[in-house]
Amino acid sequence: MNSPKNILVTGASRGVGAAICRTLLQEGHTVFGVSRTLSAEITAMQSDYSDTFFFKSVDLANTSAMRTALFVDFLDNSKPLHGYVNNAAQAYDDLITNLSEEKLQSMFSVNVLSPMMITKYAIRNMILNRVQGSIVHISSVSAHTGYKGLAMYAASKGAIEAFSLTTAREWGEKGIRSNCIVAGFMETEMSIGLSPDQKNRIYNRTSLKKATSIQSLADTVSFLLSHKAESITGTNVFVDNGTI
Ligand SMILES: NC(=O)c1ccc[n+]([C@@H]2O[C@H](COP(=O)([O-])OP(=O)(O)OC[C@H]3O[C@@H](n4cnc5c(N)ncnc54)[C@H](OP(=O)(O)O)[C@@H]3O)[C@@H](O)[C@H]2O)c1
Repeated sequence: MNSPKNILVTGASRGVGAAICRTLLQEGHTVFGVSRTLSAEITAMQSDYSDTFFFKSVDLANTSAMRTALFVDFLDNSKPLHGYVNNAAQAYDDLITNLSEEKLQSMFSVNVLSPMMITKYAIRNMILNRVQGSIVHISSVSAHTGYKGLAMYAASKGAIEAFSLTTAREWGEKGIRSNCIVAGFMETEMSIGLSPDQKNRIYNRTSLKKATSIQSLADTVSFLLSHKAESITGTNVFVDNGTI
């Protein structure tokens, strides 16, 4: 039995994040969802789970405002936090020779700096409330295989994987776990700009020759948050259709 937990999920407005929120809500957890947009998916979850789904519009690129917005106004330490899912991300896609420092900084604020700061306050909450919590970061297979045009994005995911590993080493004694899910290509807004030909080339690099299932990813998040994963920490779980 998966006992009800309070879980913070970033990037709740669409795609993978919305699927993660719905999966956790269906399992009886209380979800604190964050993104910039109050999307149709958010409105639907607010209506379906009025007692267990809470939403806050926060721009995670604004790292200095993040603490007050998230950990004072929305999720203060009176609410024990059992899980944090770092899902929100941006994909800055270009050749290295075209690299724009401004775009790089903006993407790193959302994909790396904010998750690191949120981890800081999430762990503080867990310790204060004596909770043996679980942190799950959504990484990308691009950090492992390399894809033309994804050097900057892949570097942000590599940074998060290194951060997660050390989080696990540093806080394991308190029972706090940290893992990454290395996701393969999924059909979401992030990948909407790819042509059928580009998608087929990506699928051909997987063993299963198709897009990664968003539900499979959401179910793996749920597993890593649960007691069933009590001995899993400091690792990467690949949910990528067996990318070669
Ligand atoms: N799609 C893929 O093929 C793929 C592959 C491997 C890994 N991933 C990873 O999977 C995760 C989910 O991606 P996805 O495909 O669902 O992407 P998506 O459809 O583009 O959704 C991204 C989410 O992040 C939120 N977000 C972006 N910038 C934000 C900001 N400044 N402040 C707050 N929230 C922000 C968005 O909400 P708002 O725009 O409303 O703020 C949205 O909810 C990401 O970590 C991504 O890197 C995706």
